[in-house]
Amino acid sequence: MNNLISGSDCTIRRGDYTFPECQVDDVHLNIAIYDDHTRVTGTYTITPLPHTGEVSQGGEATGKITLWGDDTLRFISLTVNGKSVHADEKSLAANAITLTLSGASTVVITSDINPDANTALEGLYRSGGMYCTQCEPEGFRRIIWYPDHPDILSVFTTRIEASKSLPFLLSNGNLTDQGDLPDDRHFAVWHDPHPKPSYLFAMVAGDLELVEDHFITNDGRRVALQIYVEHGNAHLCGHAMKSLKKSMKWDEDVFGLSYDLDVFMIVAVSHFNMGAMENKGLNIFNSKYVLANTKTATDDDLDRVESIIAHEYFHNWTGNRITCRDWFQLTLKEGLTVYRDQEFTADMHSRGVKRINDVALLKAIQFPEDASPTAHPIRPETYQEINNFYTPTVYEKGAEVIRMLEHILGKVGFMKGVALYIKTHDGQAATCEDFIVAMENANQANLSQFRHWYSQAGTPKVKVSRHYDSSKNTLTIQFHQSIPENPAIHTRQELVIPICMGLVSADGKPLPLIKEGQKKGTKECVITLTEKKETHRFENVPADAVPSLMRGFSAPVQLDSDLNSDELLLLLAADKDSYGRWNAGQELMKSLILDIIKHENINDSINFNINKLSSSFIAILEEKNLDYAVKAELLKLPSQQVVEAALQLVDPLAVWSARRKLAKAIARHIWVPAQAIITRFMTDLGKCDAGQRRLLNVLIHLLVLTREEKPYQQALLMAGHKNMTISMAGLGALNQSDAAERMQAMAEFEERWKNDSLVMEKWFSLEASCPYVSTPKHCDELMRHPAFDPGNPNKLRSVISVFAALNYRMFYANDGSGYLFLAHHIAEIDARNPQIAARMVLPLTRFSRYHEDRQALMKGALIRLKTAKTLSSDLSEVIEKTLSPKR
Ligand code: BES
Ligand code: ZN
Repeated sequence: MNNLISGSDCTIRRGDYTFPECQVDDVHLNIAIYDDHTRVTGTYTITPLPHTGEVSQGGEATGKITLWGDDTLRFISLTVNGKSVHADEKSLAANAITLTLSGASTVVITSDINPDANTALEGLYRSGGMYCTQCEPEGFRRIIWYPDHPDILSVFTTRIEASKSLPFLLSNGNLTDQGDLPDDRHFAVWHDPHPKPSYLFAMVAGDLELVEDHFITNDGRRVALQIYVEHGNAHLCGHAMKSLKKSMKWDEDVFGLSYDLDVFMIVAVSHFNMGAMENKGLNIFNSKYVLANTKTATDDDLDRVESIIAHEYFHNWTGNRITCRDWFQLTLKEGLTVYRDQEFTADMHSRGVKRINDVALLKAIQFPEDASPTAHPIRPETYQEINNFYTPTVYEKGAEVIRMLEHILGKVGFMKGVALYIKTHDGQAATCEDFIVAMENANQANLSQFRHWYSQAGTPKVKVSRHYDSSKNTLTIQFHQSIPENPAIHTRQELVIPICMGLVSADGKPLPLIKEGQKKGTKECVITLTEKKETHRFENVPADAVPSLMRGFSAPVQLDSDLNSDELLLLLAADKDSYGRWNAGQELMKSLILDIIKHENINDSINFNINKLSSSFIAILEEKNLDYAVKAELLKLPSQQVVEAALQLVDPLAVWSARRKLAKAIARHIWVPAQAIITRFMTDLGKCDAGQRRLLNVLIHLLVLTREEKPYQQALLMAGHKNMTISMAGLGALNQSDAAERMQAMAEFEERWKNDSLVMEKWFSLEASCPYVSTPKHCDELMRHPAFDPGNPNKLRSVISVFAALNYRMFYANDGSGYLFLAHHIAEIDARNPQIAARMVLPLTRFSRYHEDRQALMKGALIRLKTAKTLSSDLSEVIEKTLSPKR
């Protein structure tokens, strides 16, 4: 994140990796916090490794090691084995001090930093009154000069000293000493016995409130569980604590992995770039993902808290005990840990709903990334700024790649592979290759072709064509895989694609699948594609049977099926797989939206089809043994992004209004049964469970679109409810309009919550996303609201990113005002917080299928941004890739 002279090439390549020449045996940090500066001294014992370095005349190994720093460090002193070393101007300017060491050496280095001036929120910074750290990926070098690479593992001892006005001094591991110092100061010493890379270092100093509990591991050890929050927030920690205990238990039960220290701490901070961070024994969280109860958070928020706590906790094994050799391997820990947190949530709640939500997110966010100028493989080949690679591709597609292994090897084989990987690499910095090799060895499998998923970008397309032979009763399915055109995609090899499939009879019953030449059939099978074109034949198939392909979304591909709308209606009504039902409904709605765009309105034939679909929805609403939450998912419209992906030339405003027209038409058709359900739930809202609240939310959103009086009144009533899920459902529904009820509900909500900083983020998001109220000017006003804080990433996202990502009507205004608004604010944010700026700019880079006039406006905004000022390396990497994609 250093500011670079533009044009200089700081590209890091995966192939350039070299093994370290030295090892760091231990690290002692002394961090002394004063009002106007913080002094940090690092004492490192470093030993050159005999097999990589050279050997000096005395017979001792020699080796080079580079200590990385940052412009924000003020160099004070450096000694090697007690002798002062002169760090020359050139190394200091380049933020790299390279030492050549002979034999075991002691390096002592001191620098001063200013946490108060740290607005990038990487390294040591202040949030509210407290001091906290964020080191992944390269924040440690903003604290002290250090060989800050993930393959350098060391044992850390940390001594923190500060004024007693900061009563809690925390770091990784176990507390080994503490005491008083003159001048009303005190100190604490922490020792972490587990060797770790510097990115997992953390420390906190603050006046905090502590919520404590404990967990007994399956081998009988007692682990203290501590959540530290700002004063006044202790009552909001119950859900987080419960989630932590559930996560610890699940990892023992399912993966056989227990926690390995005596204490597990979580600290909630209000200023945080990301969601949360898995520092060893001392997780630091965005307070939004800790502080939550049913009054302040929706059911979705509570589930998110649970899954993020789980994710960071699961990193203790997949990330910390086994870490990444270099940052190209990021998906090794993130993809695997996302897979693990997805499985956890599936086990805790509804597996079907979880899968639907994850796939919807993947298609809305990751597929567009894979089709954009910033497309990259889950294991990138090059980067300038590693912060830019914490992406939906590395995370969510990475998790899908892990999930495919589960489909290909079977659950048992897959779990054997994970166990072998952990056993083999515990305590090491590993690679994606190590993971695949463990999978192969545990299963005697050959995954050479599967490895292409790690090196190839783009969402593969799989085109399906069926042929039915009525004389033989055979069904032949041809699959044709291809990689779409995109200058950012550099290889196009055939991939291994597992297709999980079933067969449904015309009356909705599962049929056996009998592969050609086989006697017996199965209810479900996995076809593993490896060729560009493949055909598969099934015998004894009735003429009107319908194949259900890609059950559970068994591979991250765009399936182009040849099912007609009656076949899709059958799957929507009767597929055994919740995902299969959902996907059929999505396909039907998508093609209706495309029809509406094409005919610029709903004509008789489109209306006929909407009517048919709505009848299916009514049947679903009345279905007896189906979760309310699944019903809710089945009725949700496909996202704007998914519709855009189905068009060659996209007008985002036309997509937006066609989507709304369809929603409104469906709402009219299902009005009577939907009203019956809403009325029934509303007789006692307090008795509704989370599933019922999900359905209520979807129905009220739909019905408000009819502009009938009744749903407005219902939504207004809901908006004032004490349960946040119900309140947000009402507000969200009203927020689709600028009706008087909407204005009233928003004003009441603001009045009720104006002193609750986290809840006000919801209010900002609603304001910024209202398609009829929120203009760039309105957003600028929001940013002058007393509850807004421009130094807080959550607040910036709740206005600026929400406007760009959810307010299609205004962000894509034909005059380009939305783009200029975004660019203007990004310029300001980049000067303070490059990581956030580089993320917020992404909506301006997703223009490849827009009309050239619109493209020109979007590129124009980027060019203005680029020429107006010196950009951070974070932001310039994204802009350069977008404006001049490499062919
Ligand atoms: N290791 C990351 C946190 C992180 C992200 C550090 C980017 C530095 C740069 C953490 O484990 C993580 O992945 N957090 C996610 C949430 C998670 C549930 C996917 C996040 O912060 O968004
Ligand atoms: Zn993670």
